[in-house]
Amino acid sequence: MKRVFSGIQPTGEIHIGNYLGAIRNWAKIGDQIGKEAIFCIVDYHAITIPHDASSLPRLTFEAALANMAAGLDPNKITLFAQSHVREHVELGWVFTTQTPLGDLERMTQFKDKSEQHSILSGLLMYPVLQAADILLYKADTVPVGEDQVQHIELTREIARRFNYRFASPEAPIFPEPKASIDTGAARVPGLDGAGKMSKSKNNTIGVLEPKDTIWQNIRVAPTDPQRIRRTDPGNPEVCVMFAYHKLFSNSDTVQMVDTECRRAGIGCVDCKKLLMENIWQTLEPIQAKAEYLREHPSEVTDALVSGADFCRTIAQDTMQEVRQAIGLLPLDSRRP
Ligand code: TRP
Repeated sequence: MKRVFSGIQPTGEIHIGNYLGAIRNWAKIGDQIGKEAIFCIVDYHAITIPHDASSLPRLTFEAALANMAAGLDPNKITLFAQSHVREHVELGWVFTTQTPLGDLERMTQFKDKSEQHSILSGLLMYPVLQAADILLYKADTVPVGEDQVQHIELTREIARRFNYRFASPEAPIFPEPKASIDTGAARVPGLDGAGKMSKSKNNTIGVLEPKDTIWQNIRVAPTDPQRIRRTDPGNPEVCVMFAYHKLFSNSDTVQMVDTECRRAGIGCVDCKKLLMENIWQTLEPIQAKAEYLREHPSEVTDALVSGADFCRTIAQDTMQEVRQAIGLLPLDSRRP
């Protein structure tokens, strides 16, 4: 791992699936490679579905704040907003001109999203902009969720095609990046027990959600459906609460819950209360940090400014190479 790049959607609140699946992993990568771990809040991607212009700046700020509170330290890693480095759009256009329409039309995420929204041409080009995000920095590793693997495959294809057309085999311009899958994300089930935790399914525990609303949601969440009375023995393997215990409680507690649930030694309410305490142990310091950042918003905006400054330098170098490779007239060629 020399340089890592990943994109973060500026959509609402982050949940414990994001935290355990992605953010914690990113923070670890940052410990290893520092500034070369680049995380980008993708506001230009956000406008590929109809959006509210008056709330987007707040959403972008909130995304930065939430990720910083959850452990992305901008003094270690690089955090910035996509629109602050204009080269993303420029390289995105170059790639757009080189990408067959058919490659984009077969993207699963495009097919899904175009059923839910009116199809803006930017939605079709979404993966091309994503390829530009990654290749602008010649990143070698891209930590993403399983659902993004197809986009990374396309990124590799775009890099390969560009090199073939505009560079020599001995001196390719773009390396082919590898996806590294955030395995944790897929493993955090939603509160309803019906598949993975996801904002769109409304089954999340928000990292910045107040303790009492988290508790309200846990309190009414389904457990083992076979366990109807307090005296019925339960099966932890089919209970989401037990899955959460495994993520948030220490091994003694997990062991205890496992044994006691099976012999009706502990009831669901007590099990949930115990779980709530352990979830809160993880979330409380994150929420305290978020509160601090809300009181010191310039720590967030300053981080974004220096992140963009760092990225712009790299991006400008790449674009100079690209412009030359594709045959654009240099601006200074008119000077004698
Ligand atoms: N499409 C990604 C997602 O929805 C976000 C993203 C945009 C991204 N650009 C990226 C991820 C570049 C990795 C690399 O999650």
